[in-house]
Parts: sequence; structure tokens; C-alpha cells
Amino acid sequence: MPTILERYEEAFQKHEKLARQAGQIFPDGVTHDSRHADPFPIYIDRAEGSKKWGVDGREFIDYWAGHGALLLGHGHPAIVNAVNRQMARGTHYGACHPLEIEWAGLVKELVPSAERVRFVSSGTEATLMGLRLSRTFTGKNKLLKFAGHFHGWHDFVIQDAYPPFGKAVPGIPAEVLNTTVICPPNDITAVERCLQTDSDIACIILEPTGGSSGTIPTKGEFLRQLREVTRHYGVVLLFDEVVTGFRVAPGGAQGYYGVTPDLTSLAKIVAGGLPGGALVGKKEILNLISIREQEASDEQKKMPHPGTFNANPLTAAAAIATLNIVKTGEPHRHVNRTADELRDGFNDVIDNHGLDWASYGEFSCIKMLVGHGEKVRAKDFDPHEWDYRRLKTASQPDLLVNLRCGMLLNGVDFPNNGMTTAAHSDEDINQTVAALDKTINWMKEDGLV
Ligand SMILES: Cc1ncc(COP(=O)(O)O)c(C=O)c1O
Repeated sequence: MPTILERYEEAFQKHEKLARQAGQIFPDGVTHDSRHADPFPIYIDRAEGSKKWGVDGREFIDYWAGHGALLLGHGHPAIVNAVNRQMARGTHYGACHPLEIEWAGLVKELVPSAERVRFVSSGTEATLMGLRLSRTFTGKNKLLKFAGHFHGWHDFVIQDAYPPFGKAVPGIPAEVLNTTVICPPNDITAVERCLQTDSDIACIILEPTGGSSGTIPTKGEFLRQLREVTRHYGVVLLFDEVVTGFRVAPGGAQGYYGVTPDLTSLAKIVAGGLPGGALVGKKEILNLISIREQEASDEQKKMPHPGTFNANPLTAAAAIATLNIVKTGEPHRHVNRTADELRDGFNDVIDNHGLDWASYGEFSCIKMLVGHGEKVRAKDFDPHEWDYRRLKTASQPDLLVNLRCGMLLNGVDFPNNGMTTAAHSDEDINQTVAALDKTINWMKEDGLV
């Protein structure tokens, strides 16, 4: 019998050919770190609903959800129609337009902290802007972030986003790294200690459901504690809701937990699955980009903020169509239920096979640890009891490669950080659970587990 990797290489020859071509152009042959795959990635030709199809016509149930940007699945008709209509009317006016007002109005209506809105082009830009504005507002210099939390790739936030923790990211000046204070996640005592001893902290940023979309989960209580201490010490609290915004609930994690930060970074769903993002928050902070406000004041504090694609009409059209559906709360009920069923189904399969694996996660996010080395039943696995460093590193890399390839051979594209969309059906979930069972059987035949 061929091994999983032999089957993969045999079945995905068209993909391998493209991967070889890509390897001559792109470092590693890929255009995003997380699209790197061994022995080579798959190449997609088109997508619709919960599915996507490879260049050879193979069908996959998709759990990437556009890196989290597609709450409604691929090609939702309301979004396709809105974008097609807008495409013909112009993609960039170099001017203000009514759609940006309608889009911002929906954001303001849904997100509790959004007194004012500024559109940007990505999540990375949104967190960078939030940090710069926090410094301008407080007159302090430093950012406090949590190990394992991801906020984009700019100089101030990428340190300790991934393991190995504590190792300096190359290419960032030490002077810049020294302005980022890193605390262990979920440790309010460590945060208070930093704020007591360092009066130069301008801002605390975090992913409100925990690092890497809940891979290192956070409890609502921690958000409430952070709100209290930041108020006490005059520090700006920035929720990075690039993923959780509009995925966890119509009002994001802040709406769900009832904790309102000073600033919120948004991207992905806020832009309707097209490139875009926003920084929203308190009027007095956002107004630091206002030319008019600054002309009226004696202090010169205006933060410059251009951006060619800010609020471009094409993204605005997709975003309005999306947020009008988000508003109903209907997609959230669906994605949370299907993700729950998938986690449960995965854990039943894992326990039936007696493996040291576990599927966990909250809301619509589905995590998978494989080969964690502990004697705990998958359905009793509690990530809150695990050290954050282990949650990010516990899976055995060779098992992950075989799992991914086996799932693809069985018609499922499941990343370790999978998400459901409103387009995933009960049949998709059942097929995905069956694909895991079949893949594990193959892994047993290959002597891997
Ligand atoms: C929580 C979080 N913040 C920021 C970002 C960066 O967003 P972008 O990739 O749009 O720059 C991401 C991207 O995955 C993210 O998950």
C-alpha cells in the first residue's frame, strides 16, 4: 500500500507542477507564510459556498475561510452582486463617496467602541495606527502585548507572536524592540506589575478571545480586569478584533463580553472579504488625525494618515453587503453551532482511536493538537489548563504534514486553525469528520500513530 505522502504526490501532480514553477519566483514558492505546505501546497482554481476546487477539478470542503475573512463563505450572491455593480461604476474615485458613509455607519451601529471610524487597507495597518495614536494621545512611548498574540507583522507587534518565544525577530532595531513590553497571556498580576513599574506604557493590545484566534484562549474576566487596570493607569486599551470582529458576534468580542475598549482594530470581515480594514474608537483619540481639530488647538499633535486604498468603493460595496447580513446575528448562530459539532465529531473520532490529540476552540474556530503526549481524553481537554507555550508547540510536525495531506486526499482543506462559515452544511461537517477517521486509519497503516 502506498503511504499518505506517496498517494498525495501521485494524486496532486498538477499542483506539484505549479509549485515547482512558483518555487522559481517566490521564496518557498508561496505568498503568505501560512500557505507554506510540505511536500507542496495545493493550487485552487475557483471557490463557492463552503467549497473550493483545485486546478485539476478536485473538490475540497474549505476551512480556511479566507484566513478568517469570509464569514458567509465563498461568493455569497449579495456580495458578488454588490461588487459586480460597483466594479462597473468605478473602483477608485480619488474622492469621498456615499458608500464610505454607509459602511462606517454600519460599523458604528454594530461595534460598541466605534465613536469614530478610519478605514485602512489591512489589519497590520489598523494595529500600527492604533499604536501610533495611543502614543500621541498619552504622550508615552511603549506598547504592552501578550506572548502568542498576533497583530500583523509590523515592527512593534511581531515579537513573540510565534514560538520560539523570547528570541528577537531579525531586522527590527533594538531601540524599537525595547519599546514593546511582553507579558505572559492571561496574567493580570504581570500586567499590573508592568504598569506599576513602567510609566511609559501608552497602550495594551490583545486579541480578545486569546492569542492566534483563541489558540491560547482568554476568559472574559481577563478583559474586564484589563479594562479596570488600563483605566486606573491611564493606558489605552486596544482590542485587536481583526478576526473576532463580526465573527464572534455582530458586535465582536467586545459586544459579546460587554467590555468596551478605547480602540479597536478591524479587518477581514469588516471589508466583506476584500482587502481593507479600520481603526475605530474614542472620538478624542481618533480626532488626533483631524486637520480641523488640530487647527483649532494650540498643541500640534496631528497624526498624518493617508492611504491610497482607504475606503475604496469596491471594498465598501462588499463590506456593506456583508455587514447588513452580519447585523441579523444569523451567521453567528450557524457558524458557532457547526464549529461545535465539528469539534465534538473530531474529538469522538480521536477518542475512538485512543490518540493523544485534541480539537478545541470557541465560537467558530476549530484548533487541532496532534501528538501532544498527554494522557487526556480529547473531549476532556481543557486548553485553559495548558501553558501557552505548549499550546503553540504541542503538535508533532510530521503528524501535521500527514494529517493535512490525508485530509486533502479525502476532500477537506483543514488548516490547524480552521473556521466554519455560514455556508458550511451539516453534510460538510459529517464528511469532514469521516475524512478525519479515514485519514487516521491511513496514518495507522503508515505506522505514524
Ligand atoms: C488578530 C489579527 N490581527 C492582525 C492581523 C493582520 O491582518 P492583515 O493580515 O490584514 O494585515 C491578523 C491577520 O491574520 C490577525 O489575525
